[in-house]
Amino acid sequence: MQRIIYMAASLVLVVGVSSCGEGGNLGEGEPTGTLAVSLTEEAGTPEEQLGESIFFDENLSIEQNQSCASCHGPEVGWTGPISDINAAGAVYEGSIADRFGNRKPPSAAYATLSPIFHLEKKGLFVGGNFWDGRATGEKLGNPAADQAQGPFLNPVEQGLPDNACVVYRVCDPVVPAAYPVSFEQVWGAGTCDIIWPADIDQSCATEGSTVSLSDADRARVNADYDLIALSIETYEASSEVNAFTSKYDAFLAKAVDFTKEEKKGLNLFRGKGKCSKCHVLGQGPNDPPLFTDFTFDNLGVPRNPDNPWYTQSAFNPDGFDWVDKGLGGFLATRLDYAAYADENLGKQKVPTLRNVDKRPSPDFTKAYTHNGYFKSLWQVVHFYNTRDVKPTCADPFTTVEDALARDCWPEPEVHENVNTSELGDLKLSTEEEEALVTFMKTLSDGFEIAAP
Ligand code: HEC
Ligand code: HEC
Repeated sequence: MQRIIYMAASLVLVVGVSSCGEGGNLGEGEPTGTLAVSLTEEAGTPEEQLGESIFFDENLSIEQNQSCASCHGPEVGWTGPISDINAAGAVYEGSIADRFGNRKPPSAAYATLSPIFHLEKKGLFVGGNFWDGRATGEKLGNPAADQAQGPFLNPVEQGLPDNACVVYRVCDPVVPAAYPVSFEQVWGAGTCDIIWPADIDQSCATEGSTVSLSDADRARVNADYDLIALSIETYEASSEVNAFTSKYDAFLAKAVDFTKEEKKGLNLFRGKGKCSKCHVLGQGPNDPPLFTDFTFDNLGVPRNPDNPWYTQSAFNPDGFDWVDKGLGGFLATRLDYAAYADENLGKQKVPTLRNVDKRPSPDFTKAYTHNGYFKSLWQVVHFYNTRDVKPTCADPFTTVEDALARDCWPEPEVHENVNTSELGDLKLSTEEEEALVTFMKTLSDGFEIAAP
């Protein structure tokens, strides 16, 4: 019921936008013919628009060649937008060439809805952003806001040497037209009154440098850097990013029916497949279907042999011995939680499945799970179904294609804490595996219903 109200609200928004945007033939209240879904770039509150400008601004990187969207493209469901990369290592190159992190970009959509990282009574950790939850939300009140302060300064991502460089270019964008709403319009006159040193452009293009500022200007920069993160978070929380406009949403709103195959997939998803135990379907308006409960699990996903991190010797001294410790690795860095590190080794955050199949063209490859080991939804489902049935491949570094050809699965990247109670031997038939994939294809935002 409530979903109908939600959909109706986004419909009104779209109509309002269209009448002053490209599709100017639509007036408020007129039937639109389609249940249109996404907002245009001009849409949103001033703060959302500012956040959007920042999200897409490639100048906010050391080589002025990388934005958040370089790794979180809307056309791919806010994850990695380059098919060839997804098909191999699945980890994206930073602003500086040949620099790579260690994980696949998860969706930046629906991330704002993750609760602040916390320990629930049962010893269960919930919330945060990143695969390991380490963007907790403890600093700025939302995990996605804490997260947004990371990439700009991460040497294997946007790589800027100083947060002042981000503030400098947001206050005075390199391409002014790219920021239809300015930082000061949103956050108040004077928020950009900072005396920048004459050599700031040079400093911001040089690794390891610090922008020299007075104490007062440094305090202003730090406050502005928080406001930048909050602007991004506000954009990410907007209906342009957290759209709730998939066929599944329309189905819940009774605006469209599912095919037999889609219904079969949904039933398997919450029944025999056990998927909804972690990718929860939601109960209603205060608990929308996010397809994650923001908990952490070790599925026993194998290593991705093509992960470029293995050969990043400057950042990864362990080479091919490196394993992704996930939540356990983060907990070990926290005095309050270190005691829980071992029992959480190898656990990764349950990702939303919204937009999991969204791609710009049918031949575009997406990568799945924290290291991008899997290259199709069917492969993921087949792994859940047969992980504990097939023999272990001789080589722990076996690609998914080779594993399928040899009818084996490589050993888990992390052996500890592998979940054997909810997956591994689901006894699904080939048809049932396919129905689950068909169902997941209904989760792409931007679904349109043709006029009757
Ligand atoms: C070079 C690629 C790259 C760039 C640039 C990048 N990201 Fe990411 N993003 C990633 C990767 C990889 C992760 C997962 C990292 C991890 O878990 O340790 C991630 C995680 C996230 C998440 C967490 C999602 C979740 O559910 O936990 C959000 C939100 C996000 N990024 C938003 C942004 C924003 C905002 C920017 C720009 C300020 C940005 N990203 C820039 C690659 C990138
Ligand atoms: C025990 C909890 C749990 C259950 C049950 C579960 N999942 Fe997952 N799922 C996860 C976790 C955790 C990950 C991330 C694992 C990783 O990256 O190592 C994940 C990842 C995925 C991904 C990859 C998404 C992405 O963006 O990379 C897909 C697809 C998926 N699950 C589908 C399913 C389906 C279909 C089922 C039922 C057959 C299912 N899951 C059952 C916890 C679960």
